[in-house]
Amino acid sequence: MLRAARANAFATPLGEFHPGNPELFRSNTLWPYFERLRNEEPVHFCSTSPVGNYWSVTKYHDIMHVETNPEIYSSDMNLGGIQLRDLGPEFRWPSFIAMDEPKHGEQRKTVAPMFTPEALDMLASLIRERSADVLDNLPRDETFNWVDRVSIELTTQMLATLFDFPWQDRHKLTRWSDLVNALPKSMIYETEETRLTELRECAEYLARLWNERSKLKKRSDLISMMAHSDATRSMDRENLFGNLILLIIGGNDTTRNSMTGSVLALSENPDQYDKLRNNNVLVDTFVPEVIRWQTPLAHMRRTTTQDAELGGKLIRKGDRVVMWYVSGNRDGEVIENPDSFIIDRARPRIHLSFGFGVHRCLGMRLAELQLKIVWEEILKRFDSIEVVGEPERIYSSFVRGYSTLPVRVRT
Ligand code: HEM
Repeated sequence: MLRAARANAFATPLGEFHPGNPELFRSNTLWPYFERLRNEEPVHFCSTSPVGNYWSVTKYHDIMHVETNPEIYSSDMNLGGIQLRDLGPEFRWPSFIAMDEPKHGEQRKTVAPMFTPEALDMLASLIRERSADVLDNLPRDETFNWVDRVSIELTTQMLATLFDFPWQDRHKLTRWSDLVNALPKSMIYETEETRLTELRECAEYLARLWNERSKLKKRSDLISMMAHSDATRSMDRENLFGNLILLIIGGNDTTRNSMTGSVLALSENPDQYDKLRNNNVLVDTFVPEVIRWQTPLAHMRRTTTQDAELGGKLIRKGDRVVMWYVSGNRDGEVIENPDSFIIDRARPRIHLSFGFGVHRCLGMRLAELQLKIVWEEILKRFDSIEVVGEPERIYSSFVRGYSTLPVRVRT
């Protein structure tokens, strides 16, 4: 299948490339397309996509250029936002990931204290306790889906902790996050109407928590922090909802898919698994390598506020520009042996998976912490996690992830 995909990619004229086609991601056949783009046309215009024309930026340094010039390359939701696909107006809730300065910075500041090293130190023991509990309850010598039993469960628990969300309802967080990002063909909801109804319930639930917490003294969960901060206290309902949803989504699929990706990467690279097993301190460099290798968010999109030149191409004001992190992370001019999974790289954090510049991921330390703790606990308990079937990948060119990974753990 991969050989056929490669032949296909090399037989297709560049003018017909639509690298954002979700099917390439579901079938994991995207690689030769991006390889050709990096080598032959690093800034590429697609005019054959059903979701509208767009530019693809596929090389590391060009992506950095877009990231560091936000006044030219805007994230503003009203211009189109941060995903290749424009969202329908009913799904456009203002949140700071899709705003430009100065509003973006003002709102980001209100939740940033939740992610400082000191705040994360306080969370670490709780994350460890909960990770240990989930791992201790896994079936032994029996096949199960790692995505459901571990990745989803642990990220859901982490989110519930951050929000101090009612524990018995914590799975609602995952459901809402999945709904926001889902494409119609993803099959996780019946109609746009039912999807909207569920999301309205989500807005009401979050508004209720917000009201309760704003009446109490300030505490250290994200909802309370926002309810008591000057920049967010009197935010309109839509903006409030948008920011809360951003924090839910931000921490959900990304960490979940890194957790699944870590197991798959080690299974495909048994020499690296041996290295990690024999020297557990390598967890520190293994974690950022997993995040590069997985690239849980394949792209972010910007819209130009003026005519611009990039990679020798003239980009017109108002054009969509897609930064393909998934491709920049395989750019051999910056990352040595980019197609290999190497857990002891000298500079493992130069990858683009967290973006760069003013919008750089706010939760990156938390994501790394969660993965590090899970793996420290795995290494203490299991000789190996064996992948015993093919992974199923999700239908999206935004979230790069998995719905299924059949495994067995051996103790
Ligand atoms: C491996 C895990 C993660 C990855 C790969 C990831 C990736 C990203 C990326 C690519 C961006 C946009 C950067 C840009 O536009 O330059 C972003 C922004 C953001 N992420 Fe993450 N993320 C992860 C985990 C988390 C977690 C755990 C949280 C919080 C619970 C979080 C919260 C956010 C927020 C709030 C933003 C918006 C920042 C801003 O606009 O200023 N992320 N993330």
